[in-house]
Amino acid sequence: MDRKAKAAACLLAGALMSAGCAAGASKEEGKKLTEDICTRCHSIDVVENHDDDESGWKEIIAQMRDHGARITEDEEAAIIEYLANK
Ligand code: HEC
Repeated sequence: MDRKAKAAACLLAGALMSAGCAAGASKEEGKKLTEDICTRCHSIDVVENHDDDESGWKEIIAQMRDHGARITEDEEAAIIEYLANK
């Protein structure tokens, strides 16, 4: 599906379920990635107890990379989308 079609489908689904489109596939993926990658060094509680916006999480993830975390750009985007909207 191209971007436009996907956006249209999201709008429609959002209208039908009144759940908005943020709770789409990438948020589920972000949750899974967070639970996988972010629990390698500490418990998920460390992540769940921290509340931040997108730029805040971007900084956190940069810090985690300094600690040795291996996170791809795609994974980072999905994780930030999940964490900033959880
Ligand atoms: C390579 C190991 C490692 C991985 C993987 C890792 N972390 Fe961390 N994290 C740490 C260490 C070490 C600390 C404690 C030191 C610190 O606060 O920077 C920490 C602390 C934190 C804190 C608390 C920081 C604060 O200032 O309150 C948060 C939030 C956090 N991690 C989020 C994440 C998220 C989100 C991920 C996944 C994207 C992740 N971590 C993956 C090593 C890691």
